[in-house]
Amino acid sequence: MKHIVLVIILLLSVFVCNTWAGGRDVFIRECGSCHRINGKADPVNPGDKAAIVWKKYFKRKRHPVDLSKISDEDMATILKYLRDHAADSEQPESAVIPK
Ligand code: HEC
Repeated sequence: MKHIVLVIILLLSVFVCNTWAGGRDVFIRECGSCHRINGKADPVNPGDKAAIVWKKYFKRKRHPVDLSKISDEDMATILKYLRDHAADSEQPESAVIPK
């Protein structure tokens, strides 16, 4: 019985951690496939731009390369992550993808 409780706690904490780290993981997976050292494009990070700039950048489809292979759900997750950690946020992140 004790073990079952432990396993449930473990599964729950893994789930919670995944949800929290989710944005960063999706960002690294989808954007980092091109934006990395020696990749197709230079590294990008949430801290490169202010939240409003990120929002407008994708709303106005400024990205030079077609990103339609990224699902709407993933794109929304990435955008939230970019804005939560933008240059003007409480926790800017500038080294998630190393330069
Ligand atoms: C298929 C490859 C590819 C993917 C995937 C990709 N990009 Fe890009 N991106 C490029 C290329 C190529 C450029 C233009 C060259 C450059 O700026 O290095 C670019 C340019 C940019 C720029 C403008 C450069 C700058 O520093 O202002 C930003 C911002 C950007 N991408 C963000 C993203 C974000 C965020 C994602 C994930 C949602 C993403 N990109 C996914 C290839 C990609």
